[in-house]
Amino acid sequence: MQDTWEALQQAAERELAAAGDVQALEAWRIEYLGRRGRLAQAMRGLGQLPPEARPAAGAAGNAVKAALTGVYDARKQALAAAEQAPVEETAAFDVTLPGIRPRVGQAHVINQVMAKVMAAFGQLGFRATDGPEVEWDRNNFTLLNLPEEHPARDMWDTFYVGNVGKPGEVLLRTHTSPMQIRVMEQTEPPVRVIVPGKVYRYEATDATHGWMLYQVEGFAVDCRVTMADLKGTLTQAIQLIFGRERRTRFRCDYFPFVEPGVDMAMECHVCDGSGCGVCSSTGWIEILGAGMIHPQVLRNVGYDPEEYSGFAFGMGLDRIAMLLYGIDDLRLFYDNDLRFLRQFR
Ligand code: PHE
Repeated sequence: MQDTWEALQQAAERELAAAGDVQALEAWRIEYLGRRGRLAQAMRGLGQLPPEARPAAGAAGNAVKAALTGVYDARKQALAAAEQAPVEETAAFDVTLPGIRPRVGQAHVINQVMAKVMAAFGQLGFRATDGPEVEWDRNNFTLLNLPEEHPARDMWDTFYVGNVGKPGEVLLRTHTSPMQIRVMEQTEPPVRVIVPGKVYRYEATDATHGWMLYQVEGFAVDCRVTMADLKGTLTQAIQLIFGRERRTRFRCDYFPFVEPGVDMAMECHVCDGSGCGVCSSTGWIEILGAGMIHPQVLRNVGYDPEEYSGFAFGMGLDRIAMLLYGIDDLRLFYDNDLRFLRQFR
């Protein structure tokens, strides 16, 4: 084997010295260092050796590879320098020509808004985490107090993943709330967690609905957490995200995993609450669902509801982005039209 490596290295070095231009160099690289090159082939041949001979032969092979990579880099630099030199010497460089502006990239507008939301909740003491988009029915529904056949399962039109698990056992999460279950099962209170992520719904697409959207889930569990904490935290967060002057409103709503449940609305950013087309003349725009975590959910994750209480909320990130920037069609976020996306710097 040692001989083979030596022979290979010598042949390679001889041919490399003969490679006179960039094309020849590239051909050499593919021949010797490429994925299907001679070195890779020899390495694959190691499997045929008796096991006790493999480590030494492998090490020798790696050494040859390192050596050849080194001489290749040197040769490449030398060739590049040689090809440049005459140009630099002869061609005049016109310093008055305008420069070439580098293209600067940027985060997608949804990611920018996500960062803003995360920063707001970070200030309020929430830790961020994330979780899988392919979920168990157990976490997405059952342990969130939606047992099988619960009619409220219809609140979410679900994509099931047919070829894993038992029928109906695996799905694309319809909301980020299963992360309540995952986090609480793993942690003892106090918990204060925020979870951004994609969710999927079997829905027809229009200006305000998509089959995929972003949510941010948040929840806090500790001794004596009350509705006042929920209202205070969310009011503060919304003000951090949208600016101080926005009024907010809470109304009763129903979600099986909270009791009581609420929806939170924000004064319409277009008409400042006087009523317009965007807010259907109500002056308010709903931005999230929330509530006190249902005692049954706490029991499901092994928390004692006599000892602990908590609140949870879920907001649509796309909705927040639409409100922040006055965008009237959610599909724009995912069409990847750079003329649209470049506006958000
Ligand atoms: N998961 C709910 C939804 O997607 C929102 C929600 C989260 C409501 C947490 C209450 C508490 O509609």
